[in-house]
Amino acid sequence: SLVSSTSLLQEARAKHYAIGAFNVHTLEMLQAVVEAAEEAQSPLIIQSTVGTVKHLGADYIAAAARVAADRASVPIALHLDHCNEFSVIISCIRAGYTSVMIDASHSPFEENVAMTQKVVEAANAVGINVEAELGKVGGVEDDIVVDERDALLADPKECAEFVERTGVHTLAPAIGTAHGIYKGTPNIDFDRIGRIAEAVDVPLVLHGGSGIPEEQVKRAVSLGMAKMNVATELRILFSDAIKHVFAENPDENDPRKYMVPAKKALKAAVIEKMQLCGCAGRA
Ligand code: 13P
Ligand code: ZN
Ligand code: NA
Repeated sequence: SLVSSTSLLQEARAKHYAIGAFNVHTLEMLQAVVEAAEEAQSPLIIQSTVGTVKHLGADYIAAAARVAADRASVPIALHLDHCNEFSVIISCIRAGYTSVMIDASHSPFEENVAMTQKVVEAANAVGINVEAELGKVGGVEDDIVVDERDALLADPKECAEFVERTGVHTLAPAIGTAHGIYKGTPNIDFDRIGRIAEAVDVPLVLHGGSGIPEEQVKRAVSLGMAKMNVATELRILFSDAIKHVFAENPDENDPRKYMVPAKKALKAAVIEKMQLCGCAGRA
């Protein structure tokens, strides 16, 4: 069955590797990341966005993930990515998700604390993981002036207070990464990651995993990032593989003929990410 991600991530933090968390949008994408985890013998976090939950249904996603977890030889958790709707969080928990993200990072600190406390209380009643965010991931541009940048990134003292007051199990502090593919190289505040890791002992989550150069991922992980979220890169290569099939054969009408190569491409890319994060061979 699906497991909570808390203990998996605590072990990752203690042993200085990160678990890859991969956003999926279709059954084939879910199967591809599961097959990758099996082959790499890696613990796995499958994620879905709120949009995908609304598109497919939390119950369908959870049912598919449960079948995968029951068959797998590696531990698998199912996580709800960036959510600020309490009702969606509760329906995902009811459907069987074993981890949820309450993202109230766009609200003032006190509201973020209050919302996160509420979700932690519900999650603790059923023994599942909660991730919360401090600071603002994304929209952090390279040329932003230092004061503005400082205001957007997570403050180590606030992180300590936030974890203490909410009891949140895992924390995503904004440290300079952004969602999507970067125009240049991301401007990651490594010093800040180190100070946050010193201030809190919960596993830290690296958002915006697509497009971060390998050395930067390794450095962030060595400093305490214990989960790395990857979404955009996977969507692009899955779609590109399908486009390639149609470019070769515009009349193709058997979904298996374009889904199989897309799955294969996704699986290979996910195995690479697992090797990069250091979670391969840790199951
Ligand atoms: P990317 O789309 O940059 O991989 O970010 C993923 C993410 O942070 C999902 O929460
Ligand atoms: Zn994110
Ligand atoms: Na990114």
